[in-house]
Amino acid sequence: MEAASTTRSTPSPLSSLASGMEATLSQNARMVAAHVEASLPDADTLLASLPAGALQGSPDNYTRHLVYADPYERFSVMVLVWRPGQHSPVHGHRTWCAYRVLRGTLSERHYRWNPDNRTAIQTGAVTREAGDTFSVPAGLQHIHALGNGSNAVAVSLHIYGVDQDRIATGVNLLVDTIVS
Ligand SMILES: [Fe+2]
Repeated sequence: MEAASTTRSTPSPLSSLASGMEATLSQNARMVAAHVEASLPDADTLLASLPAGALQGSPDNYTRHLVYADPYERFSVMVLVWRPGQHSPVHGHRTWCAYRVLRGTLSERHYRWNPDNRTAIQTGAVTREAGDTFSVPAGLQHIHALGNGSNAVAVSLHIYGVDQDRIATGVNLLVDTIVS
């Protein structure tokens, strides 16, 4: 029996649905970012709930602190502390997510996914300052790496659409990159 398959050259009866999904998911991400912006307490109030010393970070890697777990396991809120020079791997996302810079400055590199060779190539980089808020849908359309290229500790808040027990495996979708 022949295996079921799809090819990009074959028009799909669902192409209209698929293209509309992109706009719908993007709109949803914008709504999440707007809600985060409108609803978060000020950074000092938020960070006061962290364990003593948490804002120093760790010399080993950026650190993560769970600050809220939805009782229905729909999402988890983390605070990440980045020492200078600490970066995430390049990743897409297995779930929707949002982040807001609370303190300091983060750098964000953007990548474009090539489905044909299943690699990502960097397309640009931007600086994110305290107060900047973003959200992206799950998947590989939005691939990035976050990090602290400044000389001071940076702190960010992240919301992931997974239960706290799945943060380690259910958020970052690591990808291979190629150098342009
Ligand atoms: Fe991310």
